[in-house]
Amino acid sequence: MCGIVGYAGKSNGVIPVLEGLSRLEYRGYDSSGISTKVENDLSVYKKEGKLENLRTHIKDLNLTSNLCIGHTRWATHGAVNDTNAHPHGNEIFSIVHNGIIENANILREDLKSKGYNFNSETDTEVFLWSITDLYKKTNDIEKSIIETFKKVDGNSAFVIMNKENNKMYSIKRSAPLVCGLNSNSNETYMSSDPYALVGFADKIYFPEDGILCIADYTSLTNVLKFKNLDGSTSKDYKVQDNTMEMESVTKGGYDHFMLKEIFEQPGLIRKLTQLYLSDDGVKDLNNFEKFSSKNYIHLAACGTALHAGYVIKNFIERETKIKVGTDFASEFRYRKPNISKDDLGLFISQSGETADTLACQQMCKDEQLYTLSIVNVNGSTLFRECDKNLLIHAGVEIGVASTKAFTQQVLVGLLLSKALASNIDKDVLLKEFNTLASRVEDVLSRKDEIKNIARAIYNKKGFIFTGRGEQYPIALEGALKLKEIAYVHAEGYAAGELKHGPISLIDEDMVNVAIITPDLYDKTYSNAQEVKARKGILVSVGEVNNKELENDSDYYFGIDFDGLVHTKPVITNVVLQLLSYHIAKIKGTDIDKPRNLAKSVTVE
Ligand code: F6R
Repeated sequence: MCGIVGYAGKSNGVIPVLEGLSRLEYRGYDSSGISTKVENDLSVYKKEGKLENLRTHIKDLNLTSNLCIGHTRWATHGAVNDTNAHPHGNEIFSIVHNGIIENANILREDLKSKGYNFNSETDTEVFLWSITDLYKKTNDIEKSIIETFKKVDGNSAFVIMNKENNKMYSIKRSAPLVCGLNSNSNETYMSSDPYALVGFADKIYFPEDGILCIADYTSLTNVLKFKNLDGSTSKDYKVQDNTMEMESVTKGGYDHFMLKEIFEQPGLIRKLTQLYLSDDGVKDLNNFEKFSSKNYIHLAACGTALHAGYVIKNFIERETKIKVGTDFASEFRYRKPNISKDDLGLFISQSGETADTLACQQMCKDEQLYTLSIVNVNGSTLFRECDKNLLIHAGVEIGVASTKAFTQQVLVGLLLSKALASNIDKDVLLKEFNTLASRVEDVLSRKDEIKNIARAIYNKKGFIFTGRGEQYPIALEGALKLKEIAYVHAEGYAAGELKHGPISLIDEDMVNVAIITPDLYDKTYSNAQEVKARKGILVSVGEVNNKELENDSDYYFGIDFDGLVHTKPVITNVVLQLLSYHIAKIKGTDIDKPRNLAKSVTVE
């Protein structure tokens, strides 16, 4: 969704801001813009569509500015057009904003009654004219920002520059925002994502909500300052070295980030073994036995993360006596679930910034539940809000379609289930993880087989993915992946549900991707035969050397499951990731940035 990058320093800020924005393109956006300050004049340049449109727009202007803020917008209030794009500015301030001002209408009417004219349909302009109004009365920039911030409701992050001084300001509530510092050059940055600052800032500051951050590159003491809402100095932030590497911002020879991320999986599985299953790492899994007496875990997440949650539910219920309720975060938060403070809240998220998931965590926290996350982004809002976090260590995931994060979430969920049951047999798990890594490598080395299946089926009318038991979530995930990147209609079903309705869709133009592993083999195999009997096209993913399945399927992909006691869902999913990728590639869609999608869904 929306992305923010700001710069204050001795060099030309337009360069890192445009580079930072291009790195945030993966999050999904529909317009972009920057604001610069030259000799006390603020200018705003913005364009609907891809960042390339903005670059073309400013190409011949040779913009240079020590202060620059930029934004990629994903429309919430108002149509997609140049006017509604950010930054929004007037003769005194330029601002960019991520999030939503929930009481914008009331504030807008008030400001209009004071004679302020609005140019756009955005809620953001309310913040602009409110700080302007207060500044005209007080001549105090910090106070104007703080007082306006107190008035606005909703989750937002704002970055502001002004024509009076060389400072850049930011403030946020439950929305991602970091400050960056290059400690050699004293250049300062602000961004909604530390990833935009890789190679620019070596220190990343994570301010808490309601902290006014001030970047003043001309300061002789501290170029970054933090203040509380009462104006006093704040220490309410964490600071970390920026350990992300430049390699993470390139495709490394692959055609797409998604493919690169699929291929990263064996390495990441091995990394998890070092991080959680080494003598030292296993400490992170200690102290979970104290939860073994819990009766109920509320597990909430969205999309792919929820699919991982379904696999994890099975793990936990298999290993322990704890019941696990799984919910779409967007449903859980509104359906008034029965929550007892003795329950546990478990939230799964790649970004750690998904609005609905965060709302569920907050809801559980308000009910005094202990909350736990399985999350990728260290320092994300979910990470900071939960009582305990298990990081999945997937590195930055750029492809909008989540792949490697799913794998890592499932594996960390498996470790959690073992920890809850005080049943971590380190050597056994280590062996399975290492076997899994090698088997995933085998699957990846057979990518051409999957490509050939993709070629044969890519233009069919529709796709039904089926699986039973532990493979049912993989059917859901396989269908989600295909529809989001290939723009074809795909559904995931529990195989046993086919004859309760969807089987009427089956004909010679309909594909059934059936995951038929040794668990519940006979039942799942009969469901596939029902499809064949109705002339459906059967693509089966099953155990290697299963002649019966191979003969009955139009296309068959066999996997060696030997030694994969718990992790078959991970490997079957990798096959489906590659299948979706190749179908999308043949169709020529924008694989890394599928239409209408955003990587991190920070609005409900
Ligand atoms: C699908 C996908 C989404 C996300 C969902 C939750 O490929 O990426 O379904 O899984 O938006 O996002 P996170 O995990 O960041 O909370």
